[in-house]
Amino acid sequence: MALESSRSERFYMEIIEKINRLKKERNAVILAHNYQLPEIHDIADYVGDSLGLSVQASKTNADVIVFCGVYFMAETAKILSPEKTVLIPDKNAGCPMADMITAEELRELKAQHPKAKVLCYVNTTAEVKAECDVCCTSGNAERIVREAFASDDEIIFVPDQYLASWISNRIGRDFIIWRGYCPTHVRIMPDDIIKKKAIYKNAEVIVHPECPPVITALADQVLSTEGMCRYIKESKTREFIIGTEIGILHRMKKENPDKSFYPASERATCPNMKRTTLEKVLWSLEEMGFEVTVPHDIMNKARTCLQRMMDYKP
Ligand code: 13P
Ligand code: SF4
Repeated sequence: MALESSRSERFYMEIIEKINRLKKERNAVILAHNYQLPEIHDIADYVGDSLGLSVQASKTNADVIVFCGVYFMAETAKILSPEKTVLIPDKNAGCPMADMITAEELRELKAQHPKAKVLCYVNTTAEVKAECDVCCTSGNAERIVREAFASDDEIIFVPDQYLASWISNRIGRDFIIWRGYCPTHVRIMPDDIIKKKAIYKNAEVIVHPECPPVITALADQVLSTEGMCRYIKESKTREFIIGTEIGILHRMKKENPDKSFYPASERATCPNMKRTTLEKVLWSLEEMGFEVTVPHDIMNKARTCLQRMMDYKP
């Protein structure tokens, strides 16, 4: 057993060495979302939320971006850095929420509300972004709604009904919503949080706004993944129950070795985020695959929508 594990350790060290060598040769940068596997966090040049990753993609000097996340994130990187080669190690790493609305369905909704402005969560395809006025992430949604729209604007907010309802309650404003949701965040049940709170009495409960209202109602804080990491670093509290995809706990533990973290539910794991492995990152750099491309007209329209968001500096 010990021999087996030292063998696999050697195997992974070799892969990491090869990744690092190829990264230099290709002038590549590795961007990873907070929900990636621990070993992907550990080889990445930058680990962050959708907003932070968009910012990094737009300002990197690298020629190649290896995007460890899901497809819409890699597509966003390509739209913001069209002159770079953007690679995704597993082209089947999609986001089911992003696939819950198509451009055609959005055009139909817009036709029913011809005066409405359209706000899209970054968890959308490039085709959907191309149909929208402005984009947002969970980290800046409230600010974008407050600053990018007039108080009497009718707003269509797609595709996440729960992010929309969280922001709607925060600012007391109604949206025309789409009934999309994240299949990972809806796995967290009220009972999971109630049970964990009974065990860890001093822990603060922090959840993502993709959770349904029954869950946000039980939380002390509702934050984007980067917002969670920032809040925990600055907090004097030493124990946290985390209501989001469990991959983020690796970063939280690494950044706060003196604090304790408990997942609200062990079932909150996003299979698509877990498709990226060290081997696939290596193959991606070796074979320069899978290259993310976006048709020109879609790219330009989607960039306008994303750029309006980026103009609101974090
Ligand atoms: P963040 O922008 O908070 O990282 O969220 C992205 C996401 O896909 C959450 O499920
Ligand atoms: Fe999409 Fe949910 Fe996975 Fe985030 S956690 S990528 S919203 S399915």
